[in-house]
Amino acid sequence: MPRVPAYFDACLEAIDQGAAIDHVHLGHWDQPDAVGPSRARAGFARAQARLSEHCVDRLELRTGDRVLDVGCGFGGTVRAIRQSHPGIAVIGLNIDVRQLAVAHRGDGMPDKAAWVAADACRLPFRDSVFEKLLCVEAAFHFASRQIFFEEAYRVLSPGGVLVMSDIVLAKPPLPVATIAAFADRLEADYGPWPAIWTSLDATRADAERAGFALEVTDATANTWPSYHTIAPDDRAGLTGGVVLRELHRLGCLRYLHLRLERR
Ligand SMILES: C[S@@+](CC[C@H](N)C(=O)[O-])C[C@H]1O[C@@H](n2cnc3c(N)ncnc32)[C@H](O)[C@@H]1O
Repeated sequence: MPRVPAYFDACLEAIDQGAAIDHVHLGHWDQPDAVGPSRARAGFARAQARLSEHCVDRLELRTGDRVLDVGCGFGGTVRAIRQSHPGIAVIGLNIDVRQLAVAHRGDGMPDKAAWVAADACRLPFRDSVFEKLLCVEAAFHFASRQIFFEEAYRVLSPGGVLVMSDIVLAKPPLPVATIAAFADRLEADYGPWPAIWTSLDATRADAERAGFALEVTDATANTWPSYHTIAPDDRAGLTGGVVLRELHRLGCLRYLHLRLERR
């Protein structure tokens, strides 16, 4: 069984102490240049919800769609879909039963079957049972994007759509020792991250090999104010947040919204 990202231990502890966490991903600001540090921090949860809304909008949900959210975290996006589209059946899937328990507690619904513990690379569903798949900022954790795409293709019905946001990192033009320190820190703080240095071309090749047509929107600039929350300064030394912030500054981090249509 793949490893659960260690940063969720801290999230679960915070929830135990009364915190409400809907989303565990970067935020999206429509006008990132107009946002200073304090507004960015105050608006972080709202910007996270905005990023999730962007992904849901791209799904173009229709009555009768069956939807699966892969790597659903604490279920914030699943709950949002249930509220905005009451007639649609949504399942949340996660490798971590503890997150699923929180998600199930928060949805106020009796149906436990809507929360499934499984690996994104081995989806426990028959072929062609979903019209829409969602995966918000989770695929970089999976053992292989290629295998995930093959699984997504299998469980989608013909014409079905997978919408995801994903972080793609290119190796920065820095000394070898710094690159190694960056990779180690990312793996320690935000791992598993099996293929740290990759590219959009590689993702496109994986998607097309699986049988999808891919559309890409680059939202990197819209996520920048997130670093005022996850890496506000360097006092804590080299953290995973600082590494992402520096890669963003160097133009080596791309935050992508992907829409994959099953041909
Ligand atoms: C960055 S969080 C995003 C969570 C959620 N999508 C959100 O937007 O709030 C990544 C999520 O992927 C889940 N995950 C990691 N590896 C997984 C795997 N192999 N299969 C299924 N879920 C996985 C994690 O447990 C976590 O919930």
